[in-house]
Amino acid sequence: MINRKGMHIANKWAKTVAVARDPSVAAHVPDTRRMNRKSLAKMLDRYGMIYVKPVSGTFGRGVMRIERSPGHRLPYSCHAGLDIKRFASVDKLYGHISRTQRRRPYLAQRGVHLLKTNGRRFDIRVMVQKNPAGAWEPTGVIARVAQRGKAVTNYHAGGTPVALSRLLGPKLGAAGASRAEGRLRALGLRSARALARAYPRINMVGADIGLDTRLRPWIIELNTSPDPYLFRHLKDKSTHRKVMRYARLLGRIPAPRTKDRTLVAKRTRRKR
Ligand SMILES: Nc1ncnc2c1ncn2[C@@H]1O[C@H](COP(=O)(O)OP(=O)(O)OP(=O)(O)O)[C@@H](O)[C@H]1O
Ligand SMILES: [Mg+2]
Repeated sequence: MINRKGMHIANKWAKTVAVARDPSVAAHVPDTRRMNRKSLAKMLDRYGMIYVKPVSGTFGRGVMRIERSPGHRLPYSCHAGLDIKRFASVDKLYGHISRTQRRRPYLAQRGVHLLKTNGRRFDIRVMVQKNPAGAWEPTGVIARVAQRGKAVTNYHAGGTPVALSRLLGPKLGAAGASRAEGRLRALGLRSARALARAYPRINMVGADIGLDTRLRPWIIELNTSPDPYLFRHLKDKSTHRKVMRYARLLGRIPAPRTKDRTLVAKRTRRKR
């Protein structure tokens, strides 16, 4: 699924296949398959924890975190929203997923054991945009902390955007945190370039990157219509200003007309 102008690619499977062609990016993409009973069982066996999600989903809707705990009376768990259900067999689990799925195609992806802060998982959004010179440039980095008890970090699922340095500083020190942020920007940049090779008309990429407990970065998802307004949550306004300026130049958001109420209303309804 590509929109008319070719700037938005909704299909997560197509994007995964596209970036896998660049080995330096592919090394950071968790194993991803089309979800069916067989791939579900196989991946759970192999990884113990996976995420299943709609091929064309948004806002974390329909995303489920599935775990296999051998030795447990009901070894399979499915975490969606605030709810965790348990099942005795893969077949029972698959039956439950199929009902939730309602015939939409789903992916199964190796789960990343995301770092936590105060018991809440977080991942990182790296914004990469075409700059006025026509080159890809990482313009913003922000962490998203999941709502307590949730497996997804999306803002529209109750996630909280915070400065990454606030989360990594205490773990790595200021210098370590800033080095880690630099590596995340570089990985975001490489992913944007890899995706643009397959889809030359895209001009913004929001890379969702998870850090596992060993601080290895994993590319969870590449959004081609990332929300530029997310960066307004940073205290330092310079990032937000730059992201917005580029988005405007790319024609992705309207020019500011603060007195126009309808425009302001539309903007606050924007997403992702
Ligand atoms: N493999 C994974 N390992 C760990 N966490 C994951 C994984 N896949 C998804 N998640 C969590 O679920 C969230 C939502 O998943 P994802 O970004 O793939 O779908 P989406 O947000 O619904 O789609 P879009 O970003 O296009 O709106 C991620 O931001 C992340 O917090
Ligand atoms: Mg996402």
